[in-house]
Amino acid sequence: MIIQPQIQGVVARSCHPFGCQAAVSEQIAKSQTQQSSSDALPKRVLILGASSGFGLASRIALAFGPAKADTIGVSFERGVSDKGIGSAGWYNNIFFHQAAEQDELVSTNIVGDAFSSEIREQVAKAIEQDLGGQVDLVVYSLATGIRPNPETGEFWRSAIRPVGESVEGYSVNFEKNSLDKVSLPPATEQEIDETIKVMGGEDWLSWMQFLTERNLLAKGCETVAYSYIGPEHTHAIYHKGTLGLAKTHLHHTRDDINTLLESIKGNANIAVCKALVTKASVFIPGLTPYLLALYRVMKDKGLHEGCIEQMNRLFYGKWHDAADRDAEGLIRIDDWELRADIQLEVNALLAEMTSENFDNIGDYQGVLGEFLQLNGFAFPSVDYNQDVDIEALKALHP
Ligand code: NAI
Ligand code: NA
Repeated sequence: MIIQPQIQGVVARSCHPFGCQAAVSEQIAKSQTQQSSSDALPKRVLILGASSGFGLASRIALAFGPAKADTIGVSFERGVSDKGIGSAGWYNNIFFHQAAEQDELVSTNIVGDAFSSEIREQVAKAIEQDLGGQVDLVVYSLATGIRPNPETGEFWRSAIRPVGESVEGYSVNFEKNSLDKVSLPPATEQEIDETIKVMGGEDWLSWMQFLTERNLLAKGCETVAYSYIGPEHTHAIYHKGTLGLAKTHLHHTRDDINTLLESIKGNANIAVCKALVTKASVFIPGLTPYLLALYRVMKDKGLHEGCIEQMNRLFYGKWHDAADRDAEGLIRIDDWELRADIQLEVNALLAEMTSENFDNIGDYQGVLGEFLQLNGFAFPSVDYNQDVDIEALKALHP
């Protein structure tokens, strides 16, 4: 079978397994060249949200960089079936695992709903059986639009909305190669509350409580969750909107987790990341024009980073300099994005950008290319005319 990209708006309905393999290999190569003089690198790591974006990059950086960590990765992905080829994250898990095995690293994939108690039990078992009973680091990198309410089984749904007043902006459509005007009404109280339930810190805390109760955290265990703040230009839709309120909740949760981890001298961290094209971020209306301008400017200045560059810089750089935190104690790997010279140029591009010229003014080809690559397409090294053997894929398991 020949697999073509099938894009619907900002959602990819197909993925290319060989391209996912290329994506994982490229990231591995970028971590293998990292160096670290720290003797405090984590050796046993649990990653929640391990199959794509920042979570996958964290896992690759920690396994294939100087930490050489054994990992357990939790994700929610679909395999190949008669209905379709499955999701990119499914193949990322498979090819990560193959590469880790070659390096004699432990790598366990657990595929299922990280919010469920069943998956918590599977993780507990895997930590005992595969990692010798405890972990040194928990990476919390889930991104989702829904979370089941454990008491009722009904779903909380996040809504990406401004708070207080409506916002006009533009959203990209990768299917039509267009930038479309969107008007976002302000969130209702319920939308605010539910977004905080889904993307705030409650589940992170609950995972850390579970792991603490089961004595699965090593002495000095660290945890990190990822956040975004962004410049003034994106505040109405992000930082001061529903997602930003959820992130503020996440930031406060760090204090609760620090209290929880006191007895094991553990530590909770927030790393504020750069705006990047991921499966989750292309859903944020109003953010894409900013991404188009940011990619152009950061590439021009030689400062562009993808998820793997960010995670390498986090775990082999910023992490170890305790003095390198902002006033709130957050780790800022969005430091280059927010540099005044970058933002000045980004704002100048945004002031000119319209639905007609966005592909010229901004780095549309770059953003589209990264989006396609998230799904295994647009890799120069992959021959897309090659037949993909579906039966052989069915035999692969994460
Ligand atoms: P992503 O969509 O690439 O990855 C999300 C991961 O969560 C995937 O591995 C997915 O399988 C997993 N997942 C989702 N629902 C799940 C469930 N119910 N059970 C188990 N696994 C589940 O997203 P991305 O962008 O890497 O986001 C990760 C974190 O980074 C989020 O907190 C996000 O807010 C944050 N972040 C993202 C930025 C961006 O520009 N993309 C910037 C700054 C922070
Ligand atoms: Na992730």
